[in-house]
Amino acid sequence: MTQATRIANPFYSNRVNRVAPQPEARDRPAYARLPLAPRNASPVPHLTSLYHFHRAGEYGDRGYPGNCGGNLIKDLLLYFKPSLVMDPMSGSGTCADVCDELGIACLSYDIHQGFDACDPREFAVEETFDFIWSHPAYWRQKLYADDPRDLSRSPTLEDFLRRYGQFVRNSARALKPGGRLAVLMGDYCDREAGFVPLTFHTKRLAFAAGLVQCCTDIIRFSHGASSSKKVYRSSFIPGLHDTCMVFERPASNGEGARP
Ligand SMILES: C[S@@+](CC[C@H](N)C(=O)[O-])C[C@H]1O[C@@H](n2cnc3c(N)ncnc32)[C@H](O)[C@@H]1O
Repeated sequence: MTQATRIANPFYSNRVNRVAPQPEARDRPAYARLPLAPRNASPVPHLTSLYHFHRAGEYGDRGYPGNCGGNLIKDLLLYFKPSLVMDPMSGSGTCADVCDELGIACLSYDIHQGFDACDPREFAVEETFDFIWSHPAYWRQKLYADDPRDLSRSPTLEDFLRRYGQFVRNSARALKPGGRLAVLMGDYCDREAGFVPLTFHTKRLAFAAGLVQCCTDIIRFSHGASSSKKVYRSSFIPGLHDTCMVFERPASNGEGARP
């Protein structure tokens, strides 16, 4: 279109110059400069304490409440190289899908199939798995099953922590010596109980179960969280991450098997 046409036909000109509506400033992505990671012999060099990929990957069902995306699981499996994995709170099966892609054997269960990971009689295996991936309910931040054994249905924080502690002990027992338990957990603010530091409780319960932390906390940026689109009347500091903690069952000689 020439300048002459534009002037002669201003309606046509408006149509071709149409501009896409601008997103509100708060909806635009913000970019933060990340620190440089030191070079090292890691088989997964981009796996650092800051996990910021916004793409979830084609694993599990993104529509499932609490779906965690599979890329972090994939990177942990590539790093630790287990041969037998378990996911005892599998939701939409994200971990199983990642294992499938990587050709790693995986057993996955959920309360929706009647498996209660907090019951030591049901979760009774011993020294079986190299790696347990676990993404439990963040107490009652989201409700999952109608089953009262669902952790998210625990009526009080005390009750949740008692059952969660049993789950951590069940997992510790199911690990081979040198095996790892990775837990993805988030703190949250409960309407009645106030701020609930669930990552602190996770570590406390894991150490009490005889596990040791074997690498840095991995702070996973919560891209796509449903709460990020909400508007609240109250004032608070938004939490934009959850935390992945990896624990190791010490080998009998007191030394963990390094990958
Ligand atoms: C945060 S979701 C896991 C989502 C999963 N990572 C995914 O990507 O789809 C927590 C899961 O724990 C399950 N769950 C809660 N209490 C449980 C229990 N006592 N035993 C087994 N599974 C439980 C819930 O049904 C839910 O699927």
